[in-house]
Amino acid sequence: MAKQKKVALVTGGNKGIGYEVCRGLAKAGCSVILAGRSDQRVSDAVKKLKRSKLDIVGLTLDVTDVASVAFAEKFVRRTYGRLHILVNNAGVLLDNQNTKTVETADIEAVRATMETNFYGPLRLIQAFLPYMREQNYGRIVNVSSTMGQLTDSRPGYVGYRTSKTALNSLTRLVFNDVQDTNIRCNAVCPGWVRTDMGGPDADRTTKKGAESIVWLALMGNDSPNGGFFKDKKEIPW
Ligand SMILES: NC(=O)c1ccc[n+]([C@@H]2O[C@H](COP(=O)([O-])OP(=O)(O)OC[C@H]3O[C@@H](n4cnc5c(N)ncnc54)[C@H](OP(=O)(O)O)[C@@H]3O)[C@@H](O)[C@H]2O)c1
Repeated sequence: MAKQKKVALVTGGNKGIGYEVCRGLAKAGCSVILAGRSDQRVSDAVKKLKRSKLDIVGLTLDVTDVASVAFAEKFVRRTYGRLHILVNNAGVLLDNQNTKTVETADIEAVRATMETNFYGPLRLIQAFLPYMREQNYGRIVNVSSTMGQLTDSRPGYVGYRTSKTALNSLTRLVFNDVQDTNIRCNAVCPGWVRTDMGGPDADRTTKKGAESIVWLALMGNDSPNGGFFKDKKEIPW
């Protein structure tokens, strides 16, 4: 097991924080599956990373699509037969930023956000946790946000906030299920990062945003389990 190359799947790996996570994991010696919902964007991202001779393959995966997740599971089974690291990074922020109250939130936007940010990770965990159980090794990293903290009482972004709170809850539930194994499931906030989602005014680079995610993905057996992290420190739910 120690000598085996670790296989990592990163959702939403074609740009932003996910792209940098793919680079970080490959640089650390993992075989990385860079997954994204568009064929073209995935193959462009893989081409770019391959210029640095990294071990990266592309996979078209829309986390909202049951058939697409089933295909991903088949792909991993046939190509590697194992999966050590799952980074649930794909995410959307669909709320109207001018809508500050729950009464005026667009329920369709909330529902669509949940599909990607909550049901997506749930589908992926259901597909790949059995592999981790079989090999008694797994690292699941759920990319969340401090905007999902129950202690964050700022208004607005109803869909995004509730989706990340739900993802945090899922993190704890998976932790409960795997406590007696060598599988770790943690949530992490990358901070405010300059990406299409974070916008140009954000204070962090994608490299900085990816740091804690990669750290959790590569943690040893004495690593924390069932926690929520930012900058490698535990933060409240
Ligand atoms: N940026 C920040 O400040 C910040 C702060 C806290 C947390 N986060 C979290 O960090 C994660 C990455 O965000 P980011 O800033 O890197 O955002 P981003 O640049 O907008 O990238 C999001 C990625 O998710 C993919 N994606 C969206 N819907 C998908 C779906 N249905 N199936 C598969 N992939 C899908 C996108 O694919 P396409 O290219 O096809 O759209 C893209 O690759 C998200 O979970 C986000 O909530 C970000």
